[in-house]
Amino acid sequence: MNVYDSGRMGDVLGACGYVPTDDAGDADMVILNTCHIRAKAAEKLYSELGRFRILKDARMAAGKRTLIAVAGCVAQAEGEEIMNRAPYVDIVLGPQTYHRLPQLIARAELRAAANDMAPAGGILDIEFPPESKFDHLPDVAPTSVSAFLTIQEGCDKFCTFCVVPYTRGAEYSRPVADIVDEARRLAAGGVREITLLGQNVNAYRDTDAVAGLGALIRALADIDGLARIRYTTSHPIDMDDHLIAAHGDVSQLMPFLHLPVQSGSDAVLARMNRRHRIADYRDVVDRLVRARPDLKLSSDFIVGFPGESDKDFGATLALASEFGFIQAYSFKYSPRPGTPAAAMADQVPDAVKAERLAALQDILNASQRAFNKASEGRVMTVLFDRAGRKPGQLVGRSPYMQPVHAMAPDSLMGWVADVAITEAHANSLGGELVGGTAGAANQSAAGEIQRRISA
Ligand code: 5AD
Ligand code: SF4
Repeated sequence: MNVYDSGRMGDVLGACGYVPTDDAGDADMVILNTCHIRAKAAEKLYSELGRFRILKDARMAAGKRTLIAVAGCVAQAEGEEIMNRAPYVDIVLGPQTYHRLPQLIARAELRAAANDMAPAGGILDIEFPPESKFDHLPDVAPTSVSAFLTIQEGCDKFCTFCVVPYTRGAEYSRPVADIVDEARRLAAGGVREITLLGQNVNAYRDTDAVAGLGALIRALADIDGLARIRYTTSHPIDMDDHLIAAHGDVSQLMPFLHLPVQSGSDAVLARMNRRHRIADYRDVVDRLVRARPDLKLSSDFIVGFPGESDKDFGATLALASEFGFIQAYSFKYSPRPGTPAAAMADQVPDAVKAERLAALQDILNASQRAFNKASEGRVMTVLFDRAGRKPGQLVGRSPYMQPVHAMAPDSLMGWVADVAITEAHANSLGGELVGGTAGAANQSAAGEIQRRISA
């Protein structure tokens, strides 16, 4: 979601005359968009800020002003602290106020000018405003054939380890009509794949129509040119019958689902306040696979949650083996300030967490490799989205998000083609276009789509 938010901030800034640069030394403004989910992510901010302070000073010596802004969930959670620790930061803004960037920048510029380029303290805007930022953002500008689209934000679940309900705020769903509009605009701009985003994406409810994610996906499937739909991240207890049915009925909905389980132990799940047991998770997966037999899963795991015993952890290893996730993210539990789990007794020592993480990742990596290997000999659809390293090669994604490279004409960029998978590498697949490159080259005006995106 931070990638999506950064893009939207870019849209806001574009309307103010800013253009993106890869060279921070050339930037009139630097925005650090931050994540607060684990301590490691949050700590990155302060080291990065130190770097940008040097840059700001050097530019100032050359008579150039640089605004530094901190956005995102660290800003939301630690706004005051950021202002105190890094007084050279000009703007601190939360994830729900970035539509106000033009006003914040104007105020910061005034202050900076009044102080002869040394601004006196930054501006803090970490409200949860009454207005929705989505109603105040400029039209989305597509930058790739695969795009994110936020449909829901915030969370009311309050898992005991998680900061999201505090940093992103209460659950909020965008109206179906607005989402369909944004998706149409993306598709018209050449986007072929949309990933619907939300911290709790399957809690999505259109307030007027009382329609859920299943209905939204069916509405999006009617949009011309949209070949693929995905959504992330889901909670197992919100996987309702309508959504499961959509997996069976909507061919554009990719057979790959990120469904975090966090732990294989019912006792740990209860202390995490996940509100389901492993039997419920198994039941949801069974129903999904019945609707869509080729569906594969990815997941999130936390090891070393407070009170996690060897037996609890053994249950997590058993679950990882049972479900054969084709991809997974796994983390050491990171106590987050203000969350209930941070105050729980029986915190697990870091050395034990590290050992458990390594053991779990062995299993998860092996099942990812096994799936890649089993892909050899299959024909998969691939959405080509970039040039490969070798001349004449394109790289794209399989339905299961595996990177696939194949010799293919440029005209297939931004297009879905059948690829026979010939080799599995550690993190990618190689293959050959079915029907050969010449036949595929004539498929359509895909080159035109790509030109429009590049433009
Ligand atoms: N410590 C470790 N991992 C966490 N996650 C969320 N909060 C924490 C935490 N405090 C993980 C969960 C979640 C993913 C986005 O990040 O696995 O699904
Ligand atoms: Fe955090 Fe997800 Fe739990 Fe919400 S459902 S509190 S976002 S882990």
